[in-house]
Formats: sequence, C-alpha cells, structure tokens
Amino acid sequence: MENEIIKCIKERRSIRNFEEKKLPEDVIESIIEAGKYAPSPENRQPWRFIVVTNRQKIKELSGEVKKQIKKILKNKWKWQRRYPELKEADTFLFLKAVANSSKDIIFYDAPAVIFIITKPLVFNIEACSCAAQNMMLAAWSMGVGSCWIGFAKFLELNKEIMQDIGLPEGYVIASCLAFGYPARIPKAAIRKPMTGIINWID
Ligand SMILES: Cc1cc2nc3c(=O)[nH]c(=O)nc-3n(C[C@H](O)[C@H](O)[C@H](O)COP(=O)(O)O)c2cc1C
Repeated sequence: MENEIIKCIKERRSIRNFEEKKLPEDVIESIIEAGKYAPSPENRQPWRFIVVTNRQKIKELSGEVKKQIKKILKNKWKWQRRYPELKEADTFLFLKAVANSSKDIIFYDAPAVIFIITKPLVFNIEACSCAAQNMMLAAWSMGVGSCWIGFAKFLELNKEIMQDIGLPEGYVIASCLAFGYPARIPKAAIRKPMTGIINWID
C-alpha cells in the first residue's frame, strides 16, 4: 500500500549537507507544530523546544560536543561503565576522528538546530521521540532536510552551556535535530528485509 504519508516516511533520509539559506520562522514553527501533535502519555505533552538559528552559537555548541568527547576519550576507563561501546576499537577511533575534525561534523553547519527537552519522567523520552519523528517527516514534506544529532546529548555534561541555551533546571535533552534545505540528498540507507524481523503469533 502506498499513500502520501507512507511515501514521505520511505523517502525521508538523514541530511548532512545543508544549503546556506536560513529557514523561515514560519517553516520552523510548522515543523514544531507537527511535533506537538505526537502522542504522549495521558496527553502530557512533556516537550519543550529550544530553537538555535544563531550560526555562531551552533558552531560553539559543536565545539563543546567535541570537547566533551575528547574528555571522555581521555578518561576512557572511567566512562566504559556508562558507554561499554568505548571498549570497541572502531567506536574509539570513530569518536577520536569526530572530536579532532576541523569541520562541523556534529551539526553539519545546519542553519537551525532544535533541542527537544523534557523532564526525565516515565515515557517522556518516548513521547519526545514521537515528536521528533513527526518533525522530521513534516520537514521532509516541506522540502526541508533533517538529521537526528545523538552526539548533542554530550552537551548535558556542561551545565553552564545548558543554562546558556535555556535548559530549565530538571530538564534533559530528549533529542536534538538539525534542519535546513538539503544541498545533497544521499542514497537511502538500506533497510533490513521484512523476513527475520517479525514474529507472527496468529
Ligand atoms: C537516536 C539517534 C541518534 C542519531 N545520532 C546521529 C548523529 O549524532 N549524527 C548523525 O549524523 N546521524 C545520527 N543519526 C541518524 C542515523 O545515522 C540515521 O537515521 C540512520 O543511519 C538511517 O538513515 P536515514 O535516517 O537516512 O534513514 C541518529 C539517529 C537516531 C535515531
């Protein structure tokens, strides 16, 4: 079966090359509005949004993520309990390359970065993830590319930076999304076949 929504879901892909062009405010608002329509436990709507369109600030945040990654790599042994992946040589080398890159390979020079923040209560993160997916799909339907930036979570390690961008006390980053007009649309990431991922109980 194919319809407009399924087409949008299947055609969306993570964009990591953005045009310089700024996103108009009404486009950003439409994207956030789509996020607001996500399901949430008891219709709690536990999300708040921090929109960063100041390029200098985005650059600063990118530098801060790299700084935090470097710190973690320096104290690899201490952090292995929280991030067991650090034991893998590939992950270690990948993180090292990210932290040492002179390019913005955190936010990809995106003209807009949106943090979805919430209080860490049961199911809030799940609800915010639903909002994030709504936003990425809404963006795609308007010709706007996006990428989920998991690396942005490292910003929580610097309380000052978090206060600076307006994270209220008791809130955490649920997700962080970069948005902008795509400069390049990559090939779709390959999906696993249906066989093997479904357990039918008829
Ligand atoms: C929780 C989460 C964290 C992610 N973190 C990053 C990230 O930090 N940097 C990045 O380039 N892509 C990140 N991605 C995007 C994935 O790499 C991407 O969704 C995946 O490769 C599938 O490609 P597609 O989105 O084009 O279908 C993340 C995606 C999710 C859901």
